[in-house]
Amino acid sequence: MARASLPWLERVPTPSYVIDLARLRQNLAILKDIEETTGAHVLLAQKCFSMYSLYPLIGAYLSGTTASGLYEARLGHEEMGKENHVFSPAYRAEDMAELVTITDHMVFNSLSQWRRFGAQAQAAGVSCGLRINPECSTQEHAIYDPCAPGSRLGTRRAAIDAAGGRAALAGLDGLHFHTLCEQGADALDVTVQAVEQRFGDLLPAMKWLNLGGGHHITKPGYDIPRLKRIIRHLQDTYDVTVYLEPGEAVALDAGYLVATVLDVQEENGIAILDTSAACHMPDVIEMPYRPPVVGSGEPGAKAYTYTLAAPTCLAGDTIGTYSFDAPLAIGSRVVFADMAIYTMVKNNTFNGMPLPAILTADEDGTTKTVRTFGYEDFKSRL
Ligand SMILES: Cc1ncc(COP(=O)(O)O)c(C=O)c1O
Repeated sequence: MARASLPWLERVPTPSYVIDLARLRQNLAILKDIEETTGAHVLLAQKCFSMYSLYPLIGAYLSGTTASGLYEARLGHEEMGKENHVFSPAYRAEDMAELVTITDHMVFNSLSQWRRFGAQAQAAGVSCGLRINPECSTQEHAIYDPCAPGSRLGTRRAAIDAAGGRAALAGLDGLHFHTLCEQGADALDVTVQAVEQRFGDLLPAMKWLNLGGGHHITKPGYDIPRLKRIIRHLQDTYDVTVYLEPGEAVALDAGYLVATVLDVQEENGIAILDTSAACHMPDVIEMPYRPPVVGSGEPGAKAYTYTLAAPTCLAGDTIGTYSFDAPLAIGSRVVFADMAIYTMVKNNTFNGMPLPAILTADEDGTTKTVRTFGYEDFKSRL
């Protein structure tokens, strides 16, 4: 990606997240096509991207939102106002009265949660579902694998059978599974086969089936025709409405994190920036992964190599090692790509680090500042 494609680069404050509206629209158009051609409903998983100033735009393409609990459910209700779904591994009793008035679907993680809260949800007209665990791992990364041994996420078939089998699900309208993370339609295919094998006898009694998130639909090379075939197979075989709730696929590659070099340690090959992996892009450390940097190469591929690091106390708060055509100097700008997802929803002010501003950039290069943050934002949380 050439720097020339970022006309706003030198004029935005740093650190800042800059959302690329053209790419966001492109992703949304792909998801809308899936809705229109299959009849499946696509929901924004707000845990990934909750930039609600863009919900009117997102809502023009997608069916609605899904939430992890009361706060996200409120946000979806207030700011998008379309279909609103919620799943939590365990609900808080004190949240229920409000949750049932603002959600359309409520997914329970266990039969115990369903027994505890199901009647209240149904009395309010909420369609209730159960998250199942198909016990089918299609990935190596245990922290992101809800089917890993010992997982608390989803009800296993054995638990349903122990509770009386089909009868234990009486009153439930749907099933939900979420097992994928950044995966293709091939992994979904394997998972759906496992779901059909373990839970297929329960599906004819259901009105809907939610396939969760983790579908990398907007990544180049994703097999969209195969996804559509899987959706149609489920609709035709079980007469269910199919839901998808992607987070990443909505805002994949649709944002940058722009930083400034504060100091260069020539002797160590380190550039210290005004951003932090731990504070502004925690998945870099948690996942871990090496984010793309605009105009950079692998270490040694270009003339000048630097490890990009944070001004925090954490020794491991480094972002990665990259090479550049020109030396970095104090004041140089460094641009991390694919920074819309799981960033501003997870950031923090550890070490009193300022939160990055939030901006949008349109195709013609115009930018709009959505929010800036200051000392009060740090202080008011403590
Ligand atoms: C239940 C559920 N739905 C949807 C998602 C969104 O996943 P992704 O952002 O990978 O598409 C997640 C992510 O963890 C999830 O736990």
